[in-house]
Amino acid sequence: MFKVRKRQLELLSQAEIVKMRAAGQLAATLLKKLGAAAEPGMTTLDLDEIAVAFVKEHDVVSAPYLYQGGGPYPFPKSICTSLNQVVCHGIPNKKDVLKEGDIISIDVTLIKDGFHGDTCGTFFVGEVSEEKRKLTEITAASLIAALKVVKAGRRIGAIGAAIQKTAEPAGYSVVKEFQGHGIGRKFHTAPDVPHFGRQTDGAKMRAGMAFTIEPMINVGDWPTKIMEDGWTAETADGSLCAQFEHTIVVTDDGMEVMTVVGGDDPLMVSPGGSIRFA
Ligand code: MF3
Ligand code: CO
Ligand code: CO
Repeated sequence: MFKVRKRQLELLSQAEIVKMRAAGQLAATLLKKLGAAAEPGMTTLDLDEIAVAFVKEHDVVSAPYLYQGGGPYPFPKSICTSLNQVVCHGIPNKKDVLKEGDIISIDVTLIKDGFHGDTCGTFFVGEVSEEKRKLTEITAASLIAALKVVKAGRRIGAIGAAIQKTAEPAGYSVVKEFQGHGIGRKFHTAPDVPHFGRQTDGAKMRAGMAFTIEPMINVGDWPTKIMEDGWTAETADGSLCAQFEHTIVVTDDGMEVMTVVGGDDPLMVSPGGSIRFA
């Protein structure tokens, strides 16, 4: 989710894609578990503790824990928990008690066998307002629209164009300061994957490229501000934000989503499985 300066771009071999699949599936499994646990009365630290136990049980590594990139000091927890107006990089803590009507974006990144799986979903805490439900659905729909345009030979800009075309006519704005990113052995690498743009922008997609798509969509305007902890990003105008993220690999005939639980259809079920689309 950070601007990547290094330009070298790695294409993954079939053997590496097998490992990406395993990392992605495990990250998706944890995200689903955390989404199910996000109930009134839980704290964001309780969610982090579930993640810590899961990571231990599966003998994998949580990539955010002590991650340096982007922040003023290493990220102190294992997942990001972003409530309501928080856009991304919320730090789990025991003061944030989930309450009925909240939306929470949970972002999980696991490293398994040297490869990263990065996925995020927005979940409902109990019953939520129509406004929050609609925002969350449009955000998931914007990720799904983006997944559908991924194809070798097209430019990365097609992804942002698809997201804008879904979110903006519905009255929402697309966050510009945080982007998708190349991923593999590294957490954040080339290419940058903006969630806005034109068909003619950016590098051409190639089979074997792995990257994330992770649109953050706001009810209000797009600018964000970083809070005093140096990590938490909120909407500048205090409006609500939702986010969904998948890690994908470009294939010869489209793309494959890595961050999906076996048996789930990533184009039918949002990451984390909180919302179904017909
Ligand atoms: N998972 C986030 C992303 O999608 C990055 C979180 S890094 C952290 O890129 F340090 F904030 F945890
Ligand atoms: Co990411
Ligand atoms: Co993420």
